[in-house]
Amino acid sequence: MSNQRSKLVVGNWKMHGRLAPNVALLQGVARGAQALPQDVRVGVCVPYPYFAQAQALLGGSRVAWGAQDVSAHEQGAYTGEVAAGMIADFEATYAIVGHSERRAYHGESPELVAAKTQRALAAGLTPIVCVGETLDERESGATECVVGAQLNAVLVVLSADEAARIVVAYEPVWAIGTGKSATSEQAQQVHAFLRARLAAKGAQVADVPLLYGGSVKPENAAELFRQNDIDGGLIGGAALKEGDFLAICAAAAAAADVAG
Ligand code: PGA
Repeated sequence: MSNQRSKLVVGNWKMHGRLAPNVALLQGVARGAQALPQDVRVGVCVPYPYFAQAQALLGGSRVAWGAQDVSAHEQGAYTGEVAAGMIADFEATYAIVGHSERRAYHGESPELVAAKTQRALAAGLTPIVCVGETLDERESGATECVVGAQLNAVLVVLSADEAARIVVAYEPVWAIGTGKSATSEQAQQVHAFLRARLAAKGAQVADVPLLYGGSVKPENAAELFRQNDIDGGLIGGAALKEGDFLAICAAAAAAADVAG
């Protein structure tokens, strides 16, 4: 039996997309999302140069938009960085922070991820805080230790009221872009652990949306989204295909329906 929380499906385009083909994808997703029930929310996190395009094509639709990263600084001499306020200027809703690709390829520390989360919140954005273990960490039994430390680094710098405004995405590194999703049992187990950590921060934090990410596809989405502590998904590769992304949104709707 699934839970009573609403579902959230967010696409993470990563460094994909071009101005011309984006039009059909954004319009198609906006059109398809109209048919979804109100208890399913949808978003897409696009590369920075496409914010204006997302705002123009998704404005007034059921689909929110956001960024894949945000600077830890408010403004200043930080060449190449993009401030949370700039993202908010385009009426964005979300900012992914601490994605494993940022942690691995850009050396982002837990403290930096925490600072980015604070900046996003201060600008009125909803940070999607990513946590996840590598295959080595899983095989050595360190999964809870790793994701617990990643989440705690963020929770310690937030008040309970601030923490209640974040989204958390559990993305096992070994499942990202590999085609090898965590099983629904593996994912649920980690989500239950994260839920308990959130609840320990305060009653209002317990129901923070907990997304699963890592090779979510139309074929496995329904089973994942039916789990008690899985409130939706952060979707990479499948978010670039209109039909697949909308099918995953429909799976979220079906799971929400079972709960209701
Ligand atoms: P994937 O990526 O769905 O392509 O595995 C998920 C993510 O990295 O957010």
